[in-house]
Amino acid sequence: MNRSVGTFIEACQHRLNRLLDDYPAHDQGDGNAAARAELDEALRYPLVVGGKRIRPVLVYAAAQAIDPHQQPQGLDHAALAVELVHTYSLVHDDLPAMDDDDLRRGQPSLHRAWDEATAILVGDGLQAQAFELLAGAPGLSAGCRADMVATLARAAGPQGMVGGQFIDIRATDSDMGLADLSAMHALKTGALIRAALALGGIAAGAQEQQLQALDAYGRHVGLAFQVVDDILDVAGDTATLGKTRGKDDQANKPTYVKLMGLDGARREARELLGHALDNLAGFGDSADALRDLARYIVERDR
Ligand code: IPE
Ligand code: IPE
Ligand code: MG
Ligand code: MG
Ligand code: MG
Repeated sequence: MNRSVGTFIEACQHRLNRLLDDYPAHDQGDGNAAARAELDEALRYPLVVGGKRIRPVLVYAAAQAIDPHQQPQGLDHAALAVELVHTYSLVHDDLPAMDDDDLRRGQPSLHRAWDEATAILVGDGLQAQAFELLAGAPGLSAGCRADMVATLARAAGPQGMVGGQFIDIRATDSDMGLADLSAMHALKTGALIRAALALGGIAAGAQEQQLQALDAYGRHVGLAFQVVDDILDVAGDTATLGKTRGKDDQANKPTYVKLMGLDGARREARELLGHALDNLAGFGDSADALRDLARYIVERDR
């Protein structure tokens, strides 16, 4: 990774982690103070235990590709909103009724650290607060904020992540062809990644053509992300991943590795990386962070 771009990614991760220092914001409501304090602790827990922050970095990197000279106001709200929705999806993904996973981001999953009811409510709360953040993003026009809310809602909902997760649950123990598998991955993981790029682009005032290029990059990087997630479930290790290796096989999930083998899945991920990079051809150096992120997504070991 080229030094300045590596620094950009690390700076974004750091920035997001500092934003989380103040999460959730306190509004001194008149509810039960003890319950509220415990809920706040549970809301913070899945966010602060770890996470690579790839989606927030994509928000910042997309904005940088569009306008390298200034960071639009409101971008922090967008970056945080995407991380909240992503983290909610992980909390619910780990529930016994879904993937039944005890380990997340190197720590006990939320339903293990607390209980299932708390995990359900925390997921719901994180999601709601994401949209509150976008609706109140400073320095952006009302039209821009509405566009960002609609973009994230669509990506998180039945036409995006939730739609993909539903297919995933239904597809367990079934045979799925490559076309259906890639469609499922595009929804459950790709949609939120594309939304992160769109949010960064919208906040930075991208033209329609630029938004389309970011989206084409996002389609390939988003799919590559889940292909690599499938690979790591087989070839990674639990300590590095911070989540239980071998879950897909254990639960008999359709995955790229199952359909193409490890080498085939690795080849596919590299091919997707090439397509992602091709879609950035119209951008100059300002898209170097996006280029490096794509490489990182495919080469990562966690
Ligand atoms: C894991 O996402 C879930 C998928 C969508 C595959 P990440 O690998 O980005 O998880 P964190 O945020 O780093 O924990
Ligand atoms: C989950 O995919 C994608 C989400 C929308 C959370 P996985 O079930 O493969 O994610 P991990 O491997 O548990 O992180
Ligand atoms: Mg899952
Ligand atoms: Mg899972
Ligand atoms: Mg997985």
